[in-house]
Amino acid sequence: MPPIDAFRLSDAAARKYQDHSVPAMFAPLAEATVERLELPADGHILDVACGTGALTRVILQHLPGKGRVVGADLNQSMLDIAQSLTTQTNHRVDWVASDVTALPLDAHSFDLACIQQGLQFFPDKPAALAEIYRVLKPGGRLCLTCWRAISPFNDALAEALAIHVGDDAAQKARAPFSFRDGDIITNLLRQAGYSIALHDGIILQRRFEDLRAQVLALPVEQDMREKGEAVIDLILDDISTRLAPYAQDGVFIVPQEAHFFVATRP
Ligand SMILES: C[S@@+](CC[C@H](N)C(=O)[O-])C[C@H]1O[C@@H](n2cnc3c(N)ncnc32)[C@H](O)[C@@H]1O
Repeated sequence: MPPIDAFRLSDAAARKYQDHSVPAMFAPLAEATVERLELPADGHILDVACGTGALTRVILQHLPGKGRVVGADLNQSMLDIAQSLTTQTNHRVDWVASDVTALPLDAHSFDLACIQQGLQFFPDKPAALAEIYRVLKPGGRLCLTCWRAISPFNDALAEALAIHVGDDAAQKARAPFSFRDGDIITNLLRQAGYSIALHDGIILQRRFEDLRAQVLALPVEQDMREKGEAVIDLILDDISTRLAPYAQDGVFIVPQEAHFFVATRP
């Protein structure tokens, strides 16, 4: 299990996440998620591992009535950006810096909890799901998304990094996709006491218009820069060759698949 400190993110890393990863993946995933979810009018909603608030903002835009939305995340650097991007709505919004296993929130206080691309990073997944169960009202729902296949882009990136940089860098590129077995997630949810109301998939089509900028915006940037510009060019050529089947009019359009679970707390 990775230590919790593996997920401490600097201000610069949080900013890069918001500027590159959110528009590329997390905002489109949030839109697709909220399209599939019935948001409870006047509901109390918790966004766990909310990051810079990609999903929280979409929930705030679509939540009917006058509700309360709490975004909780381990990293204050992510929450600072989330707070700075939040605009006024009818709803009360609170940002909470907390590990998922020790939420400073009352029991039975939320109608809906969401985890968008967070579960795979929690070192103690049963404890995380139990803590969310504690804060949900009886009859409340948990909506969970988690990548269900390694994206062809990350696979190409990892292969290129393994050749030109090293195995550690390749492993970093695959890390967000490391926990993707739907049966294991189903069992974890059931063992924590939830019933599965829905298990479906979401397929995003991710566009790579500027491969260099998009690759250098990733957490492996430093590993690549340490090898020098010539190696970065080799990595980019290698990725482009591997992604050739996804080329359309000078752009790579690459599918990225997520599990979409809705589970209920009895
Ligand atoms: C890939 S990001 C997803 C963020 C956000 N849900 C989104 O869709 O943009 C993963 C998030 O999980 C958070 N995280 C990782 N471990 C955590 C933990 N143990 N407790 C709470 N948050 C955690 C990180 O700080 C990061 O913001």
